[in-house]
Amino acid sequence: MTTDAEFIRALPKAELHLHIEGSLEPEQMFELGRRNRIALPFKSVEEVRAAYAFSNLQDFLDIYYQGAGVLMTEQDFHDLAMAYFRRVAADGCRHVELFFDPQTHTDRGLPFSVAIEGLLSGMAEAKASLGITSKLILCFLRHLDEDAAFATLKAADPWLDRIVGVGLDSSEVGHPPSKFAGVYRAARERGLKLVAHAGEEGPPAYVYEALDILGVDRIDHGNRALEDPALVARLAKSGMTLTVCPLSNLKLCVVDDLKAHPMKRMLELGLHATVNSDDPAYFGGYLAENWLQTAQALNLSRADLITLAKNSFTGSFLTPAEIAAHLTEVEAYAAGEVS
Ligand code: HPA
Ligand code: ZN
Repeated sequence: MTTDAEFIRALPKAELHLHIEGSLEPEQMFELGRRNRIALPFKSVEEVRAAYAFSNLQDFLDIYYQGAGVLMTEQDFHDLAMAYFRRVAADGCRHVELFFDPQTHTDRGLPFSVAIEGLLSGMAEAKASLGITSKLILCFLRHLDEDAAFATLKAADPWLDRIVGVGLDSSEVGHPPSKFAGVYRAARERGLKLVAHAGEEGPPAYVYEALDILGVDRIDHGNRALEDPALVARLAKSGMTLTVCPLSNLKLCVVDDLKAHPMKRMLELGLHATVNSDDPAYFGGYLAENWLQTAQALNLSRADLITLAKNSFTGSFLTPAEIAAHLTEVEAYAAGEVS
């Protein structure tokens, strides 16, 4: 029998919750800082890593927005994306639905085109050179107001055919999904898919708002939904995908210990959960590392892992035919492993 690490790495899977700015490794932060002549408040890579001790989401966000300040050109965003894709290609990742935060960049004075064009070119290269497919999700920063989100959607207008959907991220508590009801309605009218971070730090009421007011197609995180049995039953019955991020939950103190992570319970409750990395450069592991540490901490079975792999494709925004092809590949892999 293969080890868990071997089994996981070769298992075909998708990543559905990845902030591309959160894949900026300290080494690349220094390289881009030098390239763009931007001084960093850190002397060394070690000093940066030492600063990655967070007690909550806001602690992390403060340093994450600061780090993103070295990204200045299309080439920078292209290189950022390619560095991420190279890593997950080695993790058995076949497909990624990645978030980006345009307001983090336009608020620093970059034209809207810079981040999106750089990322789209990285995504095209990843497909050509690594065989990984990807889709882009534009996130609104929820600590800013809805007018700013509307302005962002308007700026994105020329690229709407190259964006699969919109999301909602940044500081959750105090910024409920209902604050963005209008801009989500506008995004839906434009044919975009809708996702939102809800229930990471925010209460179950925020998950209800994401479902009932925003009308989301997926919930990002969703951990705190488990506090409400009626909500759990609803999420399970509707097959709503939750993009769960175990190492992020550990680093941001959403859970105290990976052994106490709700992933196993989510599967037992019939929730359509997936494993994702969120901000891998900051949280200590890319996709396969999230899978491996979760599997080991919770004693996940091979059947659980296969369910998670299937969930990652059925929860994606790929076409039914594309999903079916990936599921066939997962099943063939599982059959080969068993026999
Ligand atoms: N939560 C909210 N906003 C974020 C995150 C997260 O985990 N990562 C990047 N922006
Ligand atoms: Zn996230």
